[in-house]
Amino acid sequence: WWSNVEMGPPDAILGVTEAFKRDTNPKKINLGVGAYRTDEGKPFVLESVKKAETLIANENLDKEYAPISGVLDFCQASAKLAFGDNSRVIKDQLYATVQGISGTGSLRIGATFLAKFFPGNKIIYLPNPSWGNHTPIMKHAGLDVKSYRYYDPKTCGFDFNGAKEDIEKIPENSIILFHACAHNPTGVDPRPEQWKELSAIVKKRKLFVFMDMAYQGFASGNIDEDAFAVRKFVEDKHNLILAQSYAKNMGLYGERVGAFTAVCEDKDEVERVMSQIKILIRPMYSNPPVHGARIAAKILNQADLRSIWLKEVKYMADRIITMRQQLVDNLKNNGSKKNWQHITDQIGMFCFTGLNQQQSERLIKDFSVYLTKDGRISMAGVTSKNNAYLANAMHEVTK
Ligand code: LMR
Repeated sequence: WWSNVEMGPPDAILGVTEAFKRDTNPKKINLGVGAYRTDEGKPFVLESVKKAETLIANENLDKEYAPISGVLDFCQASAKLAFGDNSRVIKDQLYATVQGISGTGSLRIGATFLAKFFPGNKIIYLPNPSWGNHTPIMKHAGLDVKSYRYYDPKTCGFDFNGAKEDIEKIPENSIILFHACAHNPTGVDPRPEQWKELSAIVKKRKLFVFMDMAYQGFASGNIDEDAFAVRKFVEDKHNLILAQSYAKNMGLYGERVGAFTAVCEDKDEVERVMSQIKILIRPMYSNPPVHGARIAAKILNQADLRSIWLKEVKYMADRIITMRQQLVDNLKNNGSKKNWQHITDQIGMFCFTGLNQQQSERLIKDFSVYLTKDGRISMAGVTSKNNAYLANAMHEVTK
């Protein structure tokens, strides 16, 4: 039956882990996928997560199906985390929130909803570059994908003028996607004043906003600061849609915990939108798994756990920031004369090193340093033990 099925390429991000696992070099480093590691290079299960799991185990809960929309107190707590307790969206209950299968699944619910119901152009504009999975998620759901300028390779920073120029030209009633914070893959975010301008332009162009917030807390270490863009756009009366992930900020990668929200005009709209989202979810996966959502809900809703979690998010963000500085210092110590300032300027989990494909391939082949071909490294995989080795390898391939 399947003689017509051609061999497909490995995934641009998850395929890197497969190649890493095959490598026998004891010095090998996996900086491909964005997954946090301790300074010992080990996966990190948060203390707040362990405590939440113990509490949940003691509650002897049943394993009944969740509703199609997921665990209710998780959905409510997620919306509050994103918009802030004092937001009009929360106070007036203007949110239709469902649990999603982490960031990807939540984006997919949003994309599917747009493909079916968006009344304007079914074209979504992504920043260039964007997370490798964005394009397939949108296309598989039935949207057309275009892009706007975002990253400036000359400065390794945000191309604000380019972005504004391109967004000004997007046809009215189209969809635009923003990374709410810690842009993946570049680590380059607009500053608050720039977000304000972007919000105004988007409003003027009558564009509909899809926010992807996969790293709340990971950029600055502060969940409110990282929600600035989402909250500013809401304050400016954009009835946006939002995908959230708890993979990174709670380290719940494999538990697949996320949320999708549509901000609505009034309560009647919330109910109508919610009813249709449920109709879309039911034939896809029926209803979501409960365990991870219970953990996240416990952490978000129980004050003592929440305060432990907030410290842990800050701890992870700070370790990454320290690794950035150490990497720049080590590159200088190795004699590199290149300007590496972007490593410390960029924020969040990733650093867009500026290495081209050939240099990235040499890092893999000659040094067993695994990264994606666009030159992105996951700073979360850099430790004080492998930092010098990485710096030396980066210097060697950029000499
Ligand atoms: C990444 O970009 O490495 C992460 O978002 C993980 C993933 O699913 O690609």
